Amino acid sequence: KKLTVTPVVERGSSSGFINKMKNTNRNVVVFYGSQTGTAEEFATRLAKDATRYGMKGMVADPEECDMEDLSQLTEIENSLVIFCLATYGEGDPTDNAQEFYDYLQGGGTDLDGIKYAVFALGNKTYEHFNAMGKYVDSRLEELGATRLIEVGLGDDDSNIEEDFVSWREKFWPIVCEHFGVQATGDDSSIRQYSLQVNEDLPKEKIYHGEISRLGSFNVQKPPYDAKNPFLAPIIANRELHKGGDRSCMHIELDITGSKIRYESGDHVAVYPMNDPDIVERIGKRLETDLDTVITLTNVDEEASKKHPFPNPTSYRTALTHYLDIQSPPRTHILRELAEYAEDPKEKEFLMSMTSSDGKDKYNDWIVKDHRNILAILDDLKSLKPPMDHICEMLPRLQARYYSISSSPKIHPTSIHITAVLISYTTRTGRSVKGVATKWLADKPVTDGKTYTVPIFVRKSQFRLPFKPSTPVIMIGPGTGLAPFRGFLQERDYLKKEGKPVGETILYFGCRYKAQDFIYEEEINQYLKNGSLTKLHIAFSRDQKEKVYVQHLLNKNKEEIWRLLENGGHIYVCGDARNMAREVHDMLERSVIEQGNLDATKAAEYIKKLQSKGRYSCDVWS
Ligand code: FAD
Ligand code: 2AM
Repeated sequence: KKLTVTPVVERGSSSGFINKMKNTNRNVVVFYGSQTGTAEEFATRLAKDATRYGMKGMVADPEECDMEDLSQLTEIENSLVIFCLATYGEGDPTDNAQEFYDYLQGGGTDLDGIKYAVFALGNKTYEHFNAMGKYVDSRLEELGATRLIEVGLGDDDSNIEEDFVSWREKFWPIVCEHFGVQATGDDSSIRQYSLQVNEDLPKEKIYHGEISRLGSFNVQKPPYDAKNPFLAPIIANRELHKGGDRSCMHIELDITGSKIRYESGDHVAVYPMNDPDIVERIGKRLETDLDTVITLTNVDEEASKKHPFPNPTSYRTALTHYLDIQSPPRTHILRELAEYAEDPKEKEFLMSMTSSDGKDKYNDWIVKDHRNILAILDDLKSLKPPMDHICEMLPRLQARYYSISSSPKIHPTSIHITAVLISYTTRTGRSVKGVATKWLADKPVTDGKTYTVPIFVRKSQFRLPFKPSTPVIMIGPGTGLAPFRGFLQERDYLKKEGKPVGETILYFGCRYKAQDFIYEEEINQYLKNGSLTKLHIAFSRDQKEKVYVQHLLNKNKEEIWRLLENGGHIYVCGDARNMAREVHDMLERSVIEQGNLDATKAAEYIKKLQSKGRYSCDVWS
């Protein structure tokens, strides 16, 4: 064997998580698979919980650990591994858990003697509800580990906080019994970060919204990704609706010189900014100078996360770029807020929403009224939380994803977005606008300024068939049309190049022909030149009875079956909650009727289409 000298410490050797646990006397490790931050937040709360039971926990990102080391956890007395794992897209692991998932699938290692628990985060509107959490839960058992509690199934479509809290309430008593430990009774909230106010820091040492590298918004360097977004200038922003009071924007982002590549069907992520008016009002309400420059540092020196967001920064930047100030807060935030209520009635009111029998009150007052942090502070006048604690407790503001509505064949230097402006009024009369869509709507190209948007591209599996001659059926009502605009551009381009392009069928749906038939002229042009073979449109409100895309599918079962039998591909994009499911059911019915198959065989047929990449969904709720 050749002897090699490795100058760097390898992952999984002395820098590994097991050693870190040993060196810092920890016996609980909580791994998270997180895309939007919720799983990470739950993991942090579980690690914090451990202290209440005389144990010591730490949070870890599977992407940064050598997961093969898991088997060595038995070297630590009374040790336990917890996983908080979100399922993303079509039953996929989150990006940071992908490697771990591949590792488990590829074999894994003997986990005899390891104690574990899994809390899964998912959304019932999607077909593969909590697939990742369920998979890891059963795979760990297969590898010999001992499950302490049944996998928790969090459903973001109803109230995932409630699911988490109920699971946690069952979980810790089991841990206590299993390890023979007792709750210390210390239920007070422990501050995770200490505050330092920085006077006279030079501007270039302060974060102004950068996601990772300080100064990256001033000096941009490729490659661009989630940590290093590209500031794309907006070069078009126009209204697509021709009437009605809703708005749908067509936005073009310039990627010239960025070296960003994309494919039709990919997603573009946008880092939005919060409404400056809401930021200003929070500052006023808490009587804080928003231009104070602060550093929040984790009191746990060993923690991998040193700061809750890029520091040093001003309160204004934190509230504008880094924190989610517009979503209704989860119950654990209400509990922390309650400590700052001077009026005992308000304190009790907040606390009552956090208990297990306060769920209805929470749903009513927070969720249904869509009360964000500012609305809570406005309605509970005696609440006086310090701004730094607000910054500690609020979750991170997340990037928003959009299905790219252009093809790089036609638009190699721009990325197009088709986005509906979120706008509604709560029962209490507050007008609410979507964070990202309102921010985009406020960026016209006509006022002489150049607005930029921090973006990165996320690759997807939503792809046109490899061979252009393969027929396609695209089903996309509303903004679900977005990726199909890209697909149409692509097929039109190939056709003009003289390639044999197969049948191209589009199902679109909107309310009224005269109002929200987006991209009508372009679509008609493709119909006219033959790039679009057939167009089926469901105008849902132009007549008495509702007509939806699935009703049109029902009428065209024969055509669908013919294309499927000819190797065609089916694509569905848009609303995950109802539309995608109802379309799925209708496809199954087509297969039953036209293929003369029973329900089981038809379901198998559809499953096979999915596994062969011939039936793909790009859906959101
Ligand atoms: P937010 O501030 O995030 O507010 C949205 C929230 O407001 C909702 O979750 C809901 O809780 C609440 N809400 C909305 N309407 C109401 C109402 N009437 N009453 C009460 N509460 C309400 N969007 C597009 O427009 N086009 C696309 O092509 C597109 N593609 C996507 C692709 C993927 C993979 C994903 C995950 C999402 C996609 N979305 C798309 C959705 C998009 O990412 C954003 O969620 C959307 O634009 C809203 O963002 P926002 O910041 O403006 O709203
Ligand atoms: P509606 O708003 O009139 O109910 C784009 O939003 C189109 O999708 C609209 O015409 C909308 O109709 C329609 N739509 C609403 N619910 C749907 C569902 N469950 N399946 C398919 N289309 C739906």
